[in-house]
Amino acid sequence: MKNEQYILAIDEGTTSVRAILFDQQGSIVGQAQRPIHQFFPQPGWVEQDPLEIWNGTETVISEVLFQTETPPYKVRAIGISNQRETTVVWNRKTGQPIHHAIVWQSKQTTEIAKHLQQAGYQTFIQQKTGLLIDSYFSATKLQWLLDEVPHAREQAEAGDLLFGTIDTWLLWKLTNGHVHATDVTNASRTMLYNIHTLDWDQKLLDLFKIPRTMLPAVHDSSHFYGYTQEFTLMGVQIPITGIAGDQQASLFGELALDPGQTKNTYGTGAFIMMNLGHEPQLSEHGLLTTIAYGLNGQVTYAFEGSVFTAGAAVEWLKDQVALVQDVTTTATQAEQATATDQLYVVPAFSGLGAPYWDQNARGAILGLTPQTDDKQLIRATLESLAFQTRDVLQTMTHETGLPLKSLMVDGGVSKNEYLLQFQADILGSPITRAPLAETTALGVAYLAGLQVKYWPNLATLKALPRTTTSYQPRLAASMREWRYANWQQAVVATRLFAE
Ligand code: G3P
Repeated sequence: MKNEQYILAIDEGTTSVRAILFDQQGSIVGQAQRPIHQFFPQPGWVEQDPLEIWNGTETVISEVLFQTETPPYKVRAIGISNQRETTVVWNRKTGQPIHHAIVWQSKQTTEIAKHLQQAGYQTFIQQKTGLLIDSYFSATKLQWLLDEVPHAREQAEAGDLLFGTIDTWLLWKLTNGHVHATDVTNASRTMLYNIHTLDWDQKLLDLFKIPRTMLPAVHDSSHFYGYTQEFTLMGVQIPITGIAGDQQASLFGELALDPGQTKNTYGTGAFIMMNLGHEPQLSEHGLLTTIAYGLNGQVTYAFEGSVFTAGAAVEWLKDQVALVQDVTTTATQAEQATATDQLYVVPAFSGLGAPYWDQNARGAILGLTPQTDDKQLIRATLESLAFQTRDVLQTMTHETGLPLKSLMVDGGVSKNEYLLQFQADILGSPITRAPLAETTALGVAYLAGLQVKYWPNLATLKALPRTTTSYQPRLAASMREWRYANWQQAVVATRLFAE
């Protein structure tokens, strides 16, 4: 055991960065975490400091190795999973970012996105990228940086600036500026990458006025990217062999590798992904087509539906309306509530994501009576996560014709027992919860480990011990459909505000 080697996964999320060491069983050996600050320079704008992200990453790597007394040479390989779309531009000579990173949630490019929609670019962009025009993706953020930061465009055109999502930034720093690359999953979230030709699309680069020289090379998610250079790892060169956007990494961590297999990660938002296999399909109802992973020279596609407010609604119960002191008590309180069949909370705090994509929707509570109490509001809020998930899944099964056999769930909020039972009830399908809440990190550890034959093949991964928890539907079909119809009426009520 003492001679065992490990895989080190870096999971750089929106609010924190973590380093997690996995052993050959896929079990966690140790982990370290640091928060990452967010800056809100104007209402709706969200930015982060790329150097803080890098320093935090270096720190958690050192901490996890120190805590577990693991010398760097025992790290067989490194994988990086990351918050997607978040955009960094830096000077290739000095290594200095020209501006804070523009975070995926940031709304400073809403106007650019709106103009593109009004100019009729939706079909053109969806056919190339699988995405809907939205400020969420990197393209408008990159354009904004080049337009707004003094001299940025001329420096970019002179070849002095580099663009990257967070994976690319960390890879460049880990390799001491030697490697400027990303993987297909992250590239597919930029709105600049053609998911059919698997290359940056020149027509999109022209549309957004992006010099090609700024863009990273794109590789499979499981790929030898380069070696770490010096820094905290005491001169030991560790191969970096896995990169994936965090939601794709969790799909891989769930081993949802067959068409139709579907996962939901309940975090601040909820990100639902269905494996589509090797043929991309475009949605007519607000789903995104994205690359799930690139492995052995072949890409696998997925449908994705993003729900903007999931765990954030539970946090709202604590932070804004003070109905709970500790979000972990919400499951028990919901169990104790008397029936809430006619009470609906629609947490459209930041508009509605898939399948509605309505930036103007605002939250609503429907069905209040003099008897409505705190426990019922808590319960109805938890139920809203399940209803929103059904909205997306129903669209996925309808569009693909693939039945939902089972939903795999992970993420912090998936610890909530009430939510998962209700999720099974309102879907009428079983739910399986992953053994590890850290499925994202595990997924990128798998990708990194496959490349260096730490795990020789997918069959080895499938054979690893995995104790999951299942939830079976218990609600009668008539009640299930009646409640879902009520929910849909409640959603209509959130969309009444005029633009
Ligand atoms: O698309 C954004 C997503 O990747 C963010 O994930 O886990 O940082 O909230 P997370």
